[in-house]
Amino acid sequence: MAQQKISRVTLATLPTPLEDGGRLASGSRLWFKRDDLTGLGVGGNKARKLEFLCGDAIQNGAKSLVTVGAAQSNHCRMTAAAGARLGLPTHLVLSGNKPGRLEGNQLLSQIFGATLHHTGLADTDWAGLEEFRARLTRQLVDRGEKPHSIPIGGSTAVGAIGYAFAFDEIIEQCSTQNFNPDAIVFTTSSGGTHAGLVAGLVRARARDPLKRLPKIIGIGVAKGTALSSRSITDLANETLNLLNETSRATTEDVSIDPNYMGSDYAVATQAATDAAKWAAHRGAWVLDAVYSAKGFSGLLGLDAKNEFGSDANVVFIHTGGLPSIFANH
Ligand SMILES: Cc1ncc(COP(=O)(O)O)c(C=O)c1O
Repeated sequence: MAQQKISRVTLATLPTPLEDGGRLASGSRLWFKRDDLTGLGVGGNKARKLEFLCGDAIQNGAKSLVTVGAAQSNHCRMTAAAGARLGLPTHLVLSGNKPGRLEGNQLLSQIFGATLHHTGLADTDWAGLEEFRARLTRQLVDRGEKPHSIPIGGSTAVGAIGYAFAFDEIIEQCSTQNFNPDAIVFTTSSGGTHAGLVAGLVRARARDPLKRLPKIIGIGVAKGTALSSRSITDLANETLNLLNETSRATTEDVSIDPNYMGSDYAVATQAATDAAKWAAHRGAWVLDAVYSAKGFSGLLGLDAKNEFGSDANVVFIHTGGLPSIFANH
């Protein structure tokens, strides 16, 4: 098989810190992996994906970027930041109407110089948003702007490579602190973070079948996106393929817990509000209501059910989302 060439640009400040979060109610130890501090455009998980997505774009001669997301999409804001860093004009397809005053992620995206396309579509109309992206991409091609068009959340196999490497980074940091993590918990939505971590796990298992490796647990926050074990497994296997790995993930490697989402994407839950307060008071960690607070409420909920045991090391990946704290829409 021909070796795949993986192109990468440097956008993130790595490794991100791994902070000791003290004891959970069960007695297990919590670790906070600060992927909110990846550096690019005020940080978040997408910086790791964008290093590979943009590497691919440049390798293919792209002259502009296009992507899509909800009105307060962190992925869109970070793509705008990547576009600014790389000198690529960036178009963002967003749900909702143009607000009277831009806030949070939209304000930052504008500051980074992106063109915002307000579609008037609902936050959860993923299909409609993707259709709009496809149409805009075709228009940019026709205008000779050579777009590199990135699907929602940057959750392709290329993007997921970023989290296969993040898995190695976490294991190495834990090892430096003299422990093996028992679980890695994080917020999952479009699935690229999850698929990448699973690819990293499978690769590590192939390297050392005797090593004790953590369970990978995604806390789902959006109905209608990649919430099936099958689709995450398939994306993880595509990622392994790009990494020239012959080992494969199975659905057994994928755990998605949808019980902390509330009624749907971006709908507030009391558990997330409580989890955000817990994290702010424990470590001055700022969690947003749409993503990271729901993910962390999952970790606290699983701990309350004693799912990790009483002597485990549990890593929470803080995937970012800070700017939406400063937005009302
Ligand atoms: C702050 C934050 N956390 C988690 C996620 C979920 O990551 P993924 O889309 O890779 O599942 C996102 C995605 O937009 C996000 O913005």
